[in-house]
Amino acid sequence: MTVFVTGGAGFIGSNFIFYMLDKYPDSRIVCLDKLTYAGNLTTLAPVMKNPNFRFVKVDICRRDAVFQLFREEQPDVVVNFAAESHVDRSIESPEVFLQTNVLGTQVLMDACREYGIRRYHQVSTDEVYGDLPLDRPDLFFTEQTPIHTSSPYSASKAAADLLVQAYHRTYGLPATISRCSNNYGPYHFPEKLIPLMIVNALNDKPLPVYGQGLNVRDWLYVEDHCKAIDLILEKGREGEVYNIGGHNEMRNIDIVRLICRKLGKPESLITYVTDRKGHDMRYAIDPAKIHRELGWLPETKFADGIDKTIAWYLENRRWWQTILSGEYQDYYRRMYGNR
Ligand code: NAD
Ligand code: DAU
Repeated sequence: MTVFVTGGAGFIGSNFIFYMLDKYPDSRIVCLDKLTYAGNLTTLAPVMKNPNFRFVKVDICRRDAVFQLFREEQPDVVVNFAAESHVDRSIESPEVFLQTNVLGTQVLMDACREYGIRRYHQVSTDEVYGDLPLDRPDLFFTEQTPIHTSSPYSASKAAADLLVQAYHRTYGLPATISRCSNNYGPYHFPEKLIPLMIVNALNDKPLPVYGQGLNVRDWLYVEDHCKAIDLILEKGREGEVYNIGGHNEMRNIDIVRLICRKLGKPESLITYVTDRKGHDMRYAIDPAKIHRELGWLPETKFADGIDKTIAWYLENRRWWQTILSGEYQDYYRRMYGNR
């Protein structure tokens, strides 16, 4: 079996490649990645010499190049992780989000139609459902919750989801969609909350908490997300959406305080900064469908997952220090300079 993994040089895609090559050593994985600021080839170094792995630097929006790869490799399965994934960047410059997240998805699905595919899987997000109020802890996102997006990022992901559903209904594309809550774990780019707070704390830099830090996210260890996608590929029903989340809701400020405690850093590093525009208040997934139909349950408790994650950042300083020395500095000044 040949599996195309797009965006495999990023956070979740790379964890998925490691998981799949370990679990299915005889399958062939081809990673298609443009290597944007978020893609990192050193992440894939451990598998580069594996004869069942191939890396191709390609933009999924480039129709000719993508079609050529489909002709060469005849994939059985495509798992599309490739995306612009950071909400704050989408508020700054939405256009590339529409290009990659929407038009890139279309190119991949057109190639699947042209060359045939057993399964196209779209990795989507709980952000397509918008947000929930803090004073209604009884409410959760189900697969029936209406799409109601807040940021250019979530709008682009929702547009892609609708296009996937249209290709399934109109052309019979054998597609599935998963909508996962916030992931954390190794190889997470330090622009996102948990890795940013870890690396800033390690560097004794201010920890920028948006607004009052009361927003709630539902955190899932990345390996549990990978296992859920694997199950959907194996047993998920075509045309279906599966929500993925672990009922692990936490306020941002509590996460940041926990990271300070774990690293022995003072809470005086915490700095409240101007809130994100359109900031979603609370995300909370109801994972009943994937549990009932596919038997999936999260396996890693947050207490263990955060320890493993912090240990990874302590043991892999070179990975993130290299990132911090590049374009990241300009980004950081733009994003946090006047906040
Ligand atoms: P990431 O930003 O870490 O990685 C994205 C990868 O896609 C990078 O390697 C980048 O180089 C590549 N890429 C970007 N544009 C491309 C293009 N035009 N062509 C080819 N490759 C391109 O993102 P992530 O956090 O690993 O997220 C992966 C997917 O999972 C995204 O679709 C995201 O929407 C979704 N998701 C993420 C989370 C989360 O908490 N991180 C939760 C739910 C869903
Ligand atoms: O829910 C799934 C989504 O989770 C994915 O679709 C996105 O790709 C992923 O980036 C993530 O989106 P969030 O916006 O929830 O993640 P982020 O890490 O950017 O922010 C988490 C919370 O922390 C959010 O309420 C904003 C806040 N925050 C974030 C940063 C970077 C801060 O308070 N300070 C910060 O510096």
